[in-house]
Amino acid sequence: MKVTVVGAGAVGASCAEYIAIKNFASEVVVLDIKEGFAEGKAMDLMQTASLNGFDTKITGITNDYSKTAGSDVAIITSGIPRKPGMTREELIGINAGIVKTVSSSLLEHSPNVILIVVSNPMDTMTYLVHKTTGLPKNRIIGMGGALDSARFKYRLAEALEAPISDVDGMVIGGHSDTGMVPLTAHATRNSIKVSEFLSEERLAQVSEDTKVGGATLTKLLGTSAWYAPGAAVSSMVQAIACDQKKMFPCSAFLEGEYGLNDICIGVPVLLGKNGIEKIVKIELAEAEKAKMQESAEGVRKTNSLLTL
Ligand code: LAC
Repeated sequence: MKVTVVGAGAVGASCAEYIAIKNFASEVVVLDIKEGFAEGKAMDLMQTASLNGFDTKITGITNDYSKTAGSDVAIITSGIPRKPGMTREELIGINAGIVKTVSSSLLEHSPNVILIVVSNPMDTMTYLVHKTTGLPKNRIIGMGGALDSARFKYRLAEALEAPISDVDGMVIGGHSDTGMVPLTAHATRNSIKVSEFLSEERLAQVSEDTKVGGATLTKLLGTSAWYAPGAAVSSMVQAIACDQKKMFPCSAFLEGEYGLNDICIGVPVLLGKNGIEKIVKIELAEAEKAKMQESAEGVRKTNSLLTL
C-alpha cells in the first residue's frame, strides 16, 4: 500500500511516523510546499527505521504531486493550525482554498485514492472535498471522532482511576469544542456502564473535558496537538490497508442517517478496503439525539461560509 501525507508539519509527520512504525504500508510519501522540509522529515524518520524496526519506505517531496501517483490512501493535513484562543472554525478562510487545491492535485495523479481529511474545520473541509471532487462518499473520510474518542477514553480512565484498556467509549457529532457528543450513556468499563462507577456530575465533567480536549492542548502547546491526531489517522489507515472493517466514528457524508442530509459529521462507520464500508446506525437516547441535531446546526453554519 502506498500512502501520501500532504503537509509535513507536526500532524503530518506524526501520521507518517505512526503509519511507518505499525509497518503495514510499503511506502509513505510526505509532501509539503516548503522547500526541502518534507525531505528533511522523511530522512529523519527513515533514520529511525532500524531502531524502531520498520520497513516502510518514507520519502519526502516538495510540492511535486506526480511523485504521489498511485496512492491508495492520502491524508490531507495541510493548512494552518489553530493558535491558543482560536476555534477550529476560524481557520476556514485560508484552509478551504488549500484543501480544494490539494484534493484536486492528489486526484489528478491517484484517481482511485481514498482521502482522509484532517485539516480544520474538519467536518466542513470534508464536506468541501465532497462538493468539489465528486468522489463517491465512501472514499472521503474526515478524521475527528477517532481522536475525540481517544481523548474521551483518556478522561474516562482518569476519572475511574482505571487503565485505559479497561474503558471503552465513543464520541460522535462535529469535531468542535461545542459540537462533540461524547456518548457517556454507552461508555463502559469492562462491559459495565461507567454510570455504575461515576456520578452524573463527574461524567458531565468528563464530557466537558473531552469536548475541549484540542483547545486544552492548544493552550498548553501554543499550537494544535499532533501525537494523538497522528495515532488516530494511522489506526484508520491500518483498518483500510488491512480491510479490518473496524468501527471508528468518522466524519461521513450523510443521506438521511441520524435524520441528517447533505452534511459531513461524525457518526460510527466501518473502515475497510473501500474506505467507509458502512455507516453504522445506533439508537441514541433522546438527549443525545438533540445534541446531535444541535451539533449539525453548528457544522451547517460553518459550511455556509464556504464558496462552492
Ligand atoms: C485536534 C485537532 C487535530 O483536535 O483538530 O487536536
